[in-house]
Amino acid sequence: MSEGWINVGDAERAAAERLEPGPLGYFAGGAGEELTLRENLEAWRRWRLRPRVLVDTSETTTATELFGEPLSMPLLVAPVAYQRLAHPEGEIGMARAAAAAGTVFCLSTLATTLPAEVAEAAPGGRHWFQLYRFRDEGVTRALTEEAVAAGFEAIVVTVDAPPGGNRERDLRTSFEIPADVGVPSVAAALGVRRAVTLAETFELMTRAMGWPDLADLAAEASVPVLVKGILTAEDAILAVEYGAAAIVVSNHGGRQLDRSPASGDVLAEIVDAVDGRIPVLVDGGIRRGVDAVVALALGADAVLVGRPALWGLAAGGEAGASRVLELLRAELELALALCGCTSPGDLSRAHLQRAPATSVYSRQ
Ligand code: FNR
Ligand code: LAC
Repeated sequence: MSEGWINVGDAERAAAERLEPGPLGYFAGGAGEELTLRENLEAWRRWRLRPRVLVDTSETTTATELFGEPLSMPLLVAPVAYQRLAHPEGEIGMARAAAAAGTVFCLSTLATTLPAEVAEAAPGGRHWFQLYRFRDEGVTRALTEEAVAAGFEAIVVTVDAPPGGNRERDLRTSFEIPADVGVPSVAAALGVRRAVTLAETFELMTRAMGWPDLADLAAEASVPVLVKGILTAEDAILAVEYGAAAIVVSNHGGRQLDRSPASGDVLAEIVDAVDGRIPVLVDGGIRRGVDAVVALALGADAVLVGRPALWGLAAGGEAGASRVLELLRAELELALALCGCTSPGDLSRAHLQRAPATSVYSRQ
């Protein structure tokens, strides 16, 4: 079925048909009136691309590298919780799709699969571990140590939660994580396995983490520590000073602070503030190769996608997630070539201009 999809929107529609209202609202929804959720998509569309011509693009590649390691493309799979709620293959299907696509899969702390199981099921894949710190340090430590021992190459500390955002769709559907969707980290923190709400889950985590704790984590870790959830130049500079190996410009897909800016609208100021000292990644609203091209031209080293890969998984398991990643890679390669670029690193702000203020097309 997924072979027939011609863009991410097709995967999204297929997923929406398959999922129950509770999980669908949880996956698709954002915080509050979902202004940030919508604006994340709009922000990339407010740019137009300035193509350069008569460039030999016969050897165009999306290949790039991050932390000195090769990647098939500067597009990674973002951490998304509870993937077995989307499809029985869960994180294993997603990790295999990312491995086949030659890119990174980032496993959430709130995964339904343990790090060691992911490593075993997707050998040769590039895996990162997203960290939420539990109040129970033992739970956090055990998970992180398991991930590093299993060959996970980086820790991504998410700093824009807890607390969880005000997810009104979840309130309307009385959404709870079903007890049969086993989340090992939460079961360990609770001491039992039972149905929990997201708010309750976030209550299990500490809100007391500060910049010095980040520095300690970065100093102790044997792998690079990235900080995910930066939206200001001020915090980007602090992240560099406190030892982050990279940052992810992100508003958590519009799920945390509604009315926080779209990631596409703050990317340039953050790239300028970081000034090349560490890589800058970005996520939120990337749905097409041209969205990624805008982000890269603004100065991002790579982008991540959350929902697009999730829709693929939900509607078609590993094959569906693979299809979405291949569609995005092919779109990116085509857009690069049509911009007159032979690789992602050729993109610069000279390839961008603002969309006309009156364009009706930016609202599609
Ligand atoms: C997320 N995201 C997320 N981030 C994180 O650090 N840990 C997590 O467990 C989750 N869980 C999660 C669940 C769901 C259903 C979604 C949609 C998102 C945020 C995610 O990593 C990423 O920042 C956004 O999804 C990016 O926006 P797009 O690509 O979904 O528009
Ligand atoms: C979310 C959490 C789990 O966005 O990060 O739902």
